[in-house]
Amino acid sequence: MMTTNRKIAVVFHSAHGHTEHIAQQVAHGAHSVDGTHAQLIEAARLTPEPGLLTGFDGLVWGSPTYLGGVSGVFKSFMDATGGLWRRQELRGRLAAGFTVSSLPAGDKQSTLLSMFVFSMQHGMVWVGNPILPEQHGGTPYDEAANRLGSWSGLMAQAGHASAPDAFAPGDVKTAHLFGQNFARKVHGFAPHSRFSETACKAAA
Ligand SMILES: Cc1cc2nc3c(=O)[nH]c(=O)nc-3n(C[C@H](O)[C@H](O)[C@H](O)COP(=O)(O)O)c2cc1C
Repeated sequence: MMTTNRKIAVVFHSAHGHTEHIAQQVAHGAHSVDGTHAQLIEAARLTPEPGLLTGFDGLVWGSPTYLGGVSGVFKSFMDATGGLWRRQELRGRLAAGFTVSSLPAGDKQSTLLSMFVFSMQHGMVWVGNPILPEQHGGTPYDEAANRLGSWSGLMAQAGHASAPDAFAPGDVKTAHLFGQNFARKVHGFAPHSRFSETACKAAA
């Protein structure tokens, strides 16, 4: 059976490598879905030319949590998309988000919320993290997918000043499954629905 190719960008900022490590796992997960091309792009690279985002069917945002929100570098990228917002050029594309922080809670939820609101302002369609915490089924906590219990997006935790890949195996597994799920959703979401949405807007 012929599989239609779909392009996904994982747009991230990472000052010390933890968020980049998770971004790589998300991209691997997406790539494992037949017909998917997943590309990692640093947010700072897109800030001067955000129009590159229109070349993708799905966009995954990734930022460390800084003081309960996205990092300044990631926010600069977000703000650079103002022109795309005015023209609604990202409308109808699928979006999802992930964040890494050093504390078990660490106010990661508000980082995901800012990515969600950003995506909604762009008229995008949000994809969450529909994985049940595996520790409920007896998997050891550190090895359990979605051990941190986040459904609105992916959360991962790495200890302060730890190595960039010092994640619990469960967080790495969650990132892989999260990317895989996102790619499947992108494949199941016909690109033409994007254009019919635009047409609805024009007709309204
Ligand atoms: C300015 C700043 C603010 C931070 N704020 C938080 C926070 O609110 N909650 C938290 O748990 N960790 C916080 N951290 C820790 C980072 O989220 C954590 O070290 C993360 O892994 C960094 O990701 P990176 O290695 O990709 O840069 C903060 C770190 C910095 C430098």
